[in-house]
Amino acid sequence: MNDKIIIVEDDGGVRFFLEEALKDEGYNAKGFESYEEASFEIGNDTDLIIMDIKLPGMDGLTAIEDVKKKADVPILIITAHGTKKNAMDAIQRGATDFFIKPIALDELKVMVKRVLGTRKLKRELALSREEDLAQATFHGVVGKSEGMREIFKNVEKFADKNITVLITGETGVGKEVIARLVHELSKRGKEFVAVNCASIPDNLLESELFGYEKGAFTGAYQQKQGKFELAHTGTIVLDEIGEMSPYLQAKLLRVIETKEIERLGDVKKRKVDIRIIATTNRDLEKEMKEGRFREDLYYRLAQIHVVIPPLRERNGDVLLLVEHLLLDTSKETGKLITVADDARRVLLDYKWPGNVRELINVIKRAAIMCDADRITIDDLPLHLRSDQTLTSVVYSDKSLDEAISELERKMIIDALKQTRGLQAKAAKLLGISERSIWYRIKKYNIDVNV
Ligand SMILES: Nc1ncnc2c1ncn2[C@@H]1O[C@H](COP(=O)(O)OP(=O)(O)OP(=O)(O)O)[C@@H](O)[C@H]1O
Ligand SMILES: [Mg+2]
Repeated sequence: MNDKIIIVEDDGGVRFFLEEALKDEGYNAKGFESYEEASFEIGNDTDLIIMDIKLPGMDGLTAIEDVKKKADVPILIITAHGTKKNAMDAIQRGATDFFIKPIALDELKVMVKRVLGTRKLKRELALSREEDLAQATFHGVVGKSEGMREIFKNVEKFADKNITVLITGETGVGKEVIARLVHELSKRGKEFVAVNCASIPDNLLESELFGYEKGAFTGAYQQKQGKFELAHTGTIVLDEIGEMSPYLQAKLLRVIETKEIERLGDVKKRKVDIRIIATTNRDLEKEMKEGRFREDLYYRLAQIHVVIPPLRERNGDVLLLVEHLLLDTSKETGKLITVADDARRVLLDYKWPGNVRELINVIKRAAIMCDADRITIDDLPLHLRSDQTLTSVVYSDKSLDEAISELERKMIIDALKQTRGLQAKAAKLLGISERSIWYRIKKYNIDVNV
């Protein structure tokens, strides 16, 4: 299919000239007198818009913003001689490039070809990125590191067997994600009930899990089903099992052994068919050895033990997750964001104590803050980069005082860049007072508009 080009130009002579010249080149070119007329034709199948700035009705600069809301289409601006400022405004609002009247045909042809070529390449890149990603996800869970592949392989094997699963790993590593995956592949009923054992006091947790009859305790005005009952034929996730009290540990053990529960204040035993998945970021074996976790319960819960490695040990997953997140945002915003090499390096070197959750926060923020659809080192939080700053200072052959001053200066500049020159915010980021940052800015002669 021929590339579709829309020309918006009120001067009939120029419009005709452009239309004919582009048609001669084999493009599907169509001219309009005003943006209002053209706007009905603009959509995702439009490959390029060539537009004058001075137009009857909506002017070209405002029209750029309108186009951006509609579709991701490159825009070339035509501007009269001596109005370069207009052209700059247009670029700032999202136009790709501009050319000046009178239009030189050769220049126009080259520019159109280049812009359309880049657009095609970007689209192909997006497609191939999507394909690569699809190969590195397992039922929607992202991972191509050896550790994650092993987990996917095992989950596939044991998911539909009714055995208990213990999932351990640092915070934010994806324990709940894997618990859901096990449930989805289990072919059990659809109920997926998650209970956080750490966030509520013991007696409340007991009534949450087991339910109660009317009058079982003060405040029990009516009977209530517990989570075990709700999860009947489905899966129950006991999140942060390591926090469970010895009393409830004993009760849980009985549920696993008898497959029965009693609501509080009731003597009737109710059969429950549940798949139990427990998760924790504590070292349960250690807790067990030190007497804080029942050994018999541990072995009952951990018929299968899945250990999710921390993100820093998952080779290949960091950038894969980044790609995944950026593709997701591109579906929402229509903008395909890339990551500069230096920023990639920082992302790979960082230790990610908050694992995938932390990575998601960092990338989402950077995707919003970055300029020109590209995440650079400046869009990443300061603490991710501080390791690098330190090494470069340590390896320099300066005196201690000089090195400290240099580091101080670098950190202040970084903080100011991140906060777009807001000193109060930068001070907060660095954990120093406003007075103190003000003094240092003067001392090191730092330009706050860095
Ligand atoms: N492999 C993955 N692919 C896609 N998203 C993931 C993956 N792992 C984790 N996430 C996302 O990271 C976030 C944290 O994951 P999750 O809640 O499963 O971690 P967790 O180990 O249960 O954390 P916590 O210890 O705090 O309970 C969620 O938003 C989740 O969707
Ligand atoms: Mg969790």
